Amino acid sequence: MIDPVSGGSGEGTAGKLRLNLGCGLRREPGFLNVDKFGECEPDLVWDLERLPWPWPDNSAVEIRLIHVLEHLGRTTESFFGIMKELYRVCAGGATVVIHVPHFRHDDFFNDPTHVRVITPTMLGLFDRDQNLDLQARGGANSPLALYTGTHFKMASALTIVDKRWKDRVDRGEISWDQLRDAYEKFNNVAAEFHMVLSVVKPS
Ligand SMILES: C[S@@+](CC[C@H](N)C(=O)[O-])C[C@H]1O[C@@H](n2cnc3c(N)ncnc32)[C@H](O)[C@@H]1O
Repeated sequence: MIDPVSGGSGEGTAGKLRLNLGCGLRREPGFLNVDKFGECEPDLVWDLERLPWPWPDNSAVEIRLIHVLEHLGRTTESFFGIMKELYRVCAGGATVVIHVPHFRHDDFFNDPTHVRVITPTMLGLFDRDQNLDLQARGGANSPLALYTGTHFKMASALTIVDKRWKDRVDRGEISWDQLRDAYEKFNNVAAEFHMVLSVVKPS
C-alpha cells in the first residue's frame, strides 16, 4: 500500500519518492500516481493547482508530467507557483520528465484544457546559470530561475516527429533535410517535445 504523502510503504522514504503527476489512466508501477479526477483511480486525488503540494521538501527523486504541464498554470503567477513546487519537492539531482504536445500541432489546439505553450527554450529560462550568463551579455530574456528561486538544467530535449512525416522519411520519399525544412514551414510536422530536467540544489 503506497502512502499518499511519503509515496513509500514505511520509514526511510525521504528523497525516494517517485511521482506520476496527472497520471490519468496511465498508472506507473513504483510511482505515486496522482490526478485531479478520482475516476481514473489514482493513488492520490489532488488538484496540482492547489498549492502547496502535500509532499515535503527534497522528497522526490523523479517526477513525471506526461502530457500534463500544458494543462497547468493559466496565469503566469500560477505557472510560477507550479514550477516552484516542482523544485521544492525534488531532491538535488532529481529528474523531471516532461512530455507535451508541440505548439504547432493540431493536438495542441484541439484541447480547450491546454492553457499554455511549453517548449524546451521556455523551460531553459528556469536554468539559473543561463539567466546569469544572459544577463551578463545584456540579453533581454526573462530570467525565470532568478524570479522563482529555482534551478533546472535541461538534461535532454527531443522533438518527436508526427508519424505521417516519419513514415515519409522511412519510405525514402523525403530526406531528413527536407523534413527539417518542412518543420520550419508547416504545422503538424512535429508532434511532441520530450524533455528531462535535472534539479540543481546547493549541496
Ligand atoms: C492528457 S491527460 C494525460 C494522462 C496521462 N499522463 C497519460 O500520459 O496518458 C492529462 C491528465 O492531467 C490531469 N490533470 C489536468 N489538470 C490537473 C490538475 N490541475 N491537477 C491534477 N491533474 C490534472 C487530467 O485529469 C488528466 O488525467
